[in-house]
Amino acid sequence: MIGKPISRVDGPEKVTGQAKYAAEFNVPDLTYGVVVSSTITKGTITRIDTSKALALDGVLEVFTHKNRPKTAWFDMSYKDQDSPPGSPFRPLHNDQVKYNGQPIALVVAETFEVARYAATLVEIDYDPEPCETDLLKHLHEARDPKSGVANLFKPLPPKPRGDSAAAYANAPVSMSARYIHGMQHHNPMEMFATTVEYGRNGHLTIYDKTQGATNSQLYVTQAFNLSFDQVRVISPYVGGGFGSGLRPQYQLFLAVMAARALERSVRVSLTRQQMWSFGHRPATVQNIRLAANADGTLAAVEHEAIAETSQFEDYTETVVNWTGKLYDCANSTLSYKVKSLDMYSPLDMRAPGGVTGVHAIECAIDELAYNAGIDPLDFRFKNYSEKDWTEKDKPFSSKELRACFTQGAERFGWSNRTPEPRSMRRGHTLIGWGMATGIWDANQVPARAEAVLTVNGKLRVSSATADIGTGTYTIMTQIAAELLGMPLENVIFRLGDTDMPLAPIQGGSWTAATVGSAVKVTCEALAKKLFKLARKMPGSPLASADFTDVFFANSHIRLRRDPSVAVPLQAIVDQNGGRAISETGTSLPNMLKQKDYSRSAHAAAFVEVEVDEDFGTVVVTRAVSAVAAGRILNPKTARSQIIGGMVWGISSALQEESVMDHRYGRYMNQNLAEYHIPVCADVRDLDVIFVEEVDDIVNPLGVKGVGEVGLVAMPAAIANAVFHATGKRIHDLPIQLDRLL
Ligand code: MOS
Repeated sequence: MIGKPISRVDGPEKVTGQAKYAAEFNVPDLTYGVVVSSTITKGTITRIDTSKALALDGVLEVFTHKNRPKTAWFDMSYKDQDSPPGSPFRPLHNDQVKYNGQPIALVVAETFEVARYAATLVEIDYDPEPCETDLLKHLHEARDPKSGVANLFKPLPPKPRGDSAAAYANAPVSMSARYIHGMQHHNPMEMFATTVEYGRNGHLTIYDKTQGATNSQLYVTQAFNLSFDQVRVISPYVGGGFGSGLRPQYQLFLAVMAARALERSVRVSLTRQQMWSFGHRPATVQNIRLAANADGTLAAVEHEAIAETSQFEDYTETVVNWTGKLYDCANSTLSYKVKSLDMYSPLDMRAPGGVTGVHAIECAIDELAYNAGIDPLDFRFKNYSEKDWTEKDKPFSSKELRACFTQGAERFGWSNRTPEPRSMRRGHTLIGWGMATGIWDANQVPARAEAVLTVNGKLRVSSATADIGTGTYTIMTQIAAELLGMPLENVIFRLGDTDMPLAPIQGGSWTAATVGSAVKVTCEALAKKLFKLARKMPGSPLASADFTDVFFANSHIRLRRDPSVAVPLQAIVDQNGGRAISETGTSLPNMLKQKDYSRSAHAAAFVEVEVDEDFGTVVVTRAVSAVAAGRILNPKTARSQIIGGMVWGISSALQEESVMDHRYGRYMNQNLAEYHIPVCADVRDLDVIFVEEVDDIVNPLGVKGVGEVGLVAMPAAIANAVFHATGKRIHDLPIQLDRLL
């Protein structure tokens, strides 16, 4: 079962509309909350008049900072599973506005329509203050970020080594450039929503849009001083996340606050526009200087990044360390700084830091290769790193990036490329071919799972993880089916419920490794338990067998040397008095094994663009991604992950950006009409290769995760292709047509 291109087991439920999302769970006697958002960016609320809203028939309450319940407050030490250092945003805390779109009131009514209308009747006066939101204006004020637990998985740069400035000055070939990335917002299809069912004795059953039910539970218990058994969070389906659900969002807080105050069930749904009111990929400015010796080996590497954060938290992401992992140069300086601005804290967004940092370094490498007169692919072979200087020169647990380069180039036809810019055409369009490297972490964290052989002889496995569209349901079903030798249709995997064994947020491309390992150890334990019971059955044909003598296939335990000698799993349940048989298991990363290695997935992207010479429009006509991500559990769902990443690469390179009017600190394109992302017509021929990579260090399954690595190489490959087509180096993304003309 493992390694087969199984179609999504949750597909039928999703396409037939049976899969329920957070705002679709209907509970009796439900009320509806609508959020009123701040129209200023910074200042004080001087008056808030809710009387007109309250006078409407059906309005139950309007919560503001003036009348919110006292319990709706949490102290500065509060953390969620993705908290950066600082003090998390507290909705309705006081009269201070810290960012544009900040929730400042919640109207709760018997119907959604009344609540929405009443929200327009809330009158607010502000005493506004000047706001600062433009990173480019404040680069000189950038400072070192505070480091926190989040940096365990998002390391800050290592100390410089060698003398990069001197090496740069003395080398025969060099390049220097500044790269600017704008802000982006996640915009999954499903809007953020929470339905709180207010139960007996105030017990809360919460249907939340989240990438981790356990994280939402942690948040609610801390914010409202509740015990874990008073709060159950359920989130079986997520209509996309991309990182936006890694932290509990304010609709969860407001829905729980209102439900407790009114002792009623409450649903709060945010609008598409309100997607711009929490969390974003931060704007970054990067400076790179590279130098090479005459033979094309790197002589100096300098990569500096400055990113924005909020006034209340130091959000960080890993932007520059990728450079040190990919290029092992004796004279290297990496640096990362932040600047606090009047905005909400940035938030991890698919391949956070990687998509910006690797874009910059991989464009810079392309430019240096051109300056050295060396093919960009040859240049990368020449400067291939065998160890990771950002992690104390550790070797990689596995790194089949060479195979990615070779197989990707072969499939793409890279050898047919003529190197001179503007040398390839098709009619009135310029053709450009570009390539770049991708890299992403291969992490594993602790998780638990439960496996049950049911009274009907079926296997039910569960873990409180999430499936944000990644294929988790499917691959976990495959792992469980494989280990207990059962047909897929007899295996059911469940997730997204805090009553299930503990699992962390789904993020960082770690779920396949993390929850997959938990499912593996748990199913192995169940297999042993079943074998013991089978051996003890009266007249058991396996009575004298050892565990190593048997295997599990077709819902039987069979003897290896004679598979016809077998005990059906159903017979074991029957013998157990018709009671289900269960095991729970925990998987922890094997630190002893992992600690001496740097662990990453790698990729190479090859891209063809067509640039219209008259209009400056760019189309990615075809792209090949070759990916080395350890064992591929399901080539079909894995391919979908890589394709999704590649499409986002097209988006990042050519289309996507949240544009802010810095005079007001307000986004100008808070809708999907003006926040451009690729449509089907923008997505042409995308091809994915998984190169073989064996890794028995990363985790017991040998998987590295594919959620993010498919995106990382694409923006640079596209920008490099645009250079090859046009001769223009556009360093800032997105490359919209006005930048090309
Ligand atoms: Mo991903 S940004 O770790 O959801």
